Amino acid sequence: MYMRRITVFRFYLCTLFLLSLPIVLAAAAAWQPSSQPKTAVIAHRGASGYAPEHTLSSYRLAARMQADYIEVDVRAAKDGKLVALHDATLARTTNAETVYPRRAPWRVNDFSFAELRRLDAGSWFHPRFAGERIPTLDEVIQMLKAERVEAPLYIETKQPGIEEAVVHLLKKHGFLQQRRVMFQSFHPESLQALRPLIPHGIRLIQLVDEKEAHSGRDELLQQIAVYADGIGLPLSAVTEEWVRAAHGRGLIVHVYTVNEPHDLARLCAMGVDGLFTDYPDRPGRIAACRRLPRH
Ligand code: G3P
Ligand code: CA
Repeated sequence: MYMRRITVFRFYLCTLFLLSLPIVLAAAAAWQPSSQPKTAVIAHRGASGYAPEHTLSSYRLAARMQADYIEVDVRAAKDGKLVALHDATLARTTNAETVYPRRAPWRVNDFSFAELRRLDAGSWFHPRFAGERIPTLDEVIQMLKAERVEAPLYIETKQPGIEEAVVHLLKKHGFLQQRRVMFQSFHPESLQALRPLIPHGIRLIQLVDEKEAHSGRDELLQQIAVYADGIGLPLSAVTEEWVRAAHGRGLIVHVYTVNEPHDLARLCAMGVDGLFTDYPDRPGRIAACRRLPRH
């Protein structure tokens, strides 16, 4: 009788253990060492997975999703007006081919701002965004201020030569003085032109493409460390060695463009300093990305 009770007791103990196993495992996965800094979430072209890239809707959504930074690609129209746009031409993200059928290849800097303003920059993404316009950088800043958005801007100069105009605008709105901006570019000369124009403490990030990233890491990092504070790496190139080598030279590491949950978890666990994503709400749902603010 006594032995039978022991067996039954053991049986219940095992059952209890097996039933609680998933909870124990989930708790273990959620536990994070508090010293590990948070990877910054950079809304790539705004929340461009949910709204047309580089529109006020996309930036507004990125702010609502509490992105740590809002990325804006900046170009100049023919009359010098600074606009938020990724491509050098208008065909992919506007109805330029319909509105200006004889202006191929629809290069942005072949159009005045008044001409750009006539374009629909939303329908290509989804009909519910019909009528969205290409915003000026000034309008983006004014919207963020009007809606009391705290998130800093992460400006990419898409063409060299616009640095003074960009800095002038940021200064006018107090973003420079408040250090509410970070700069990036694929053009080293653009970052080198920015350095003397900006106050100390504002970071410059050198973007590299896949070809550059696969052509000699240490030499590249040595060059970049002379004038920049960080490197922007494509997802395909980033490894623990890259992160260690860059950090070893005092360079922060940002990675573009990271949308898949397994990649987000892998990069956050790797300790990259920031990641560009079209879905700024996703990292918050990944344990490895939920940590103390970095700085
Ligand atoms: O700046 C990171 C990433 O945005 C660079 O690539 O082509 O999306 O501007 P792209
Ligand atoms: Ca960009």
